Amino acid sequence: MAIISKILLRWYAENGRALPWRVNPKDAEAGQNPDPYKIWISEIMLQQTTVNTVIPYFNRFIKKWDNIEQLSYADEADILTFWAGLGYYARGRNLLKCAKELSKKFDGKIPNDKKTLMELPGIGEYTASAIRSIAFGEREVVIDSNIERVVCRLFKIEKPVNQSKKEIKKYASQIFPKLRSGDFAQALMDFANAVCKPKKPNCSHCPIATSCLSLELDVVENIPAKAVKKDKLIRRGFVFFIKVHPNIFLLERRPSEGILGGLMGFPTTEWEVIKIKPTLPFKAKWTFTKEIVTHQFSHFKLELEIVLGEKINSKFDSSKYLAVEQQSFDLTILPTLMRKVYTKAIKL
Ligand code: ADE
Repeated sequence: MAIISKILLRWYAENGRALPWRVNPKDAEAGQNPDPYKIWISEIMLQQTTVNTVIPYFNRFIKKWDNIEQLSYADEADILTFWAGLGYYARGRNLLKCAKELSKKFDGKIPNDKKTLMELPGIGEYTASAIRSIAFGEREVVIDSNIERVVCRLFKIEKPVNQSKKEIKKYASQIFPKLRSGDFAQALMDFANAVCKPKKPNCSHCPIATSCLSLELDVVENIPAKAVKKDKLIRRGFVFFIKVHPNIFLLERRPSEGILGGLMGFPTTEWEVIKIKPTLPFKAKWTFTKEIVTHQFSHFKLELEIVLGEKINSKFDSSKYLAVEQQSFDLTILPTLMRKVYTKAIKL
């Protein structure tokens, strides 16, 4: 199997993506190593988000917090506002917790011991092995969902991925080289993105086509098999778009515990599985619009009906609500759900 790693490392040298956390091949040859801080930040961002979405966030993040020490002094609210639009906000909270711990216990450096890494906030098995191999050149078998797809196809593993973890690990271990496992992991990720794609894989240009069992048996597109999806839970509630002036509306910071905790947004009711009667925030002129904003969270789908509120030129609780002028409003401070609400509500 050594041949697969050789071919893919060569393919990577010619076709790998130039990404801001990577060292380009020339600098690598001259002995430059990746910056473990950048590898850590990028791997956290990439946990649930695609490379193209991550790139601009990563560049802005590094400009704002360019080392562990500096990050450890950041405000959680600033990090969450920064994270708006990336989703899975626990990642942002854990990043700060982790930076504080690294600063306090590890002299502001990222450790390279696997067990120690996995005890840090936000770092699980995958991220620990990605950091160890990519940042420190340690031997690891790195498996993310893209690599799972490649391995399942190469070895014709036909059961859904969630039932094949052990088998995938076994076969992945056979193709990972002893040296340069970080480069090989990234080669596999880029190869999975450019060639061994989920749909319409480019098998006619695949450099390892002759080793691919599922191509030989013409089952590439059936692999990996889809897991039977459980019906996703639906939660429902109401969201309030409240004007206190024709051009000024109200936002609030959500409670720090719970979903979108600590983020800015339009006031909402609780999100319940059963139908609820809305509790209105305060006395105002309310219009139920029947306009629904939907948003997919990892464990449920949310449907919020937009309720317009008018409380023109009268007092509101300014310790609870933030009045925002529409003209100068920066939509990017909001999480995606709230951006959707805004975009729909201003047209009503
Ligand atoms: N996905 C997760 N980590 C990655 C990396 N280092 N390069 C490309 N895609 C990735």
